[in-house]
Amino acid sequence: MSLIYPPLQAPKRLLFGPGPSMVAPRVYQAMTQNVVGHLDPFFFQVADEIRSLLGYAYSTSNQFNLAISGTGSSGMEAAVANFTEPGMKFALLTNGFFGDRLGEMARRQGGEVVRLAKPWGEPYDPQEGREFILRERPQVVAFVQAETSTGMFNQAKPICEAAHEVDALTIADCVTSLGGMPVLVDENGIDIAYSCTQKGLGCPPGLAPMTVSPRALDRLKARKTPVQSWYLDLQLLDTFYTGHKYHHTASATLFYALREGLAMVAEEGRENRWQRHQRNHQAFVAGIEAMGLGMHVQNPAGRLWTLNTPRVPEGVDDAKVRAWLLEKRGIEIAGGFGPLAGKVFRIGLMGHGSTEDNVALILEALADALKA
Ligand SMILES: Cc1ncc(COP(=O)(O)O)c(C=O)c1O
Repeated sequence: MSLIYPPLQAPKRLLFGPGPSMVAPRVYQAMTQNVVGHLDPFFFQVADEIRSLLGYAYSTSNQFNLAISGTGSSGMEAAVANFTEPGMKFALLTNGFFGDRLGEMARRQGGEVVRLAKPWGEPYDPQEGREFILRERPQVVAFVQAETSTGMFNQAKPICEAAHEVDALTIADCVTSLGGMPVLVDENGIDIAYSCTQKGLGCPPGLAPMTVSPRALDRLKARKTPVQSWYLDLQLLDTFYTGHKYHHTASATLFYALREGLAMVAEEGRENRWQRHQRNHQAFVAGIEAMGLGMHVQNPAGRLWTLNTPRVPEGVDDAKVRAWLLEKRGIEIAGGFGPLAGKVFRIGLMGHGSTEDNVALILEALADALKA
């Protein structure tokens, strides 16, 4: 019996879910370039470009900007593992699934996790957040800027200001904001930010771009215990990216992709890119409301421009709608989960996929799916 494996042919999907988003052709092109070794001067040249382009995308003058090998969760784990020591007080502000994941990681690092929790998709009151932080006096304060489970944008500044009053470090999850919404690391006072490649940056998944403030680096150097994770130890990683010593075999292909995705952010201009996402989000919401649907996040100012959460109309089975879209139109969207299971659709318009044409396409397809 002869086995024949024709070359792999992946289906062409229209990715309108919460990520991965559609990959920009220029990024695909970069990924076909020759693989070089992880200690090749060319690899370090690409890593250096990523360092400075990340500073631009994150709006920061931080020099410690790097891409962790791993998906967005590896950025989350790196942030938590490096800045939490056993017994340390870790204050979490959470109003969704990924906020809760941050808390679970901190618990596993031996942090004493204290929480200000809101129902999924409800904002924290800035005054309540401030009082919580001043009362608890934690060493670390963590929150999710763009909560993908609910479509909610959490304001970073009031949290970071209160955290700095008690000399705490701030960790912000920017997985669904980087490249699509203003993260503003320096202006907001975020000490440690991490993200992913597969959403606002228009790349495939596989790296977690991160930035760390000088203040946080001082805190890292003063740790009393070694970072529990060898692989995600930022000081060891720095001996690789800055010191050019072997640490792990980073994927040149994924680094090319990220370099290209970030170059596209710089060429478009980050502010123009945010405006593009905002415009397309607003057009999408207008279309959704014209169809008689509502948005889960009530306050328009609290909605993500990258990920929309229209509510599933009464009596509609969201799984059937999603299956129809995939089968008939090759379109991927996502549903809600946890307390929002069956209640919301999660529809991403991000990175390369956030275009006027795509807004029209997804609205029309959704209307057809709801009628089918
Ligand atoms: C807000 C947020 N944080 C963290 C993650 C985890 O990222 P990944 O799935 O790339 O590990 C996600 C994934 O969607 C996310 O949306």
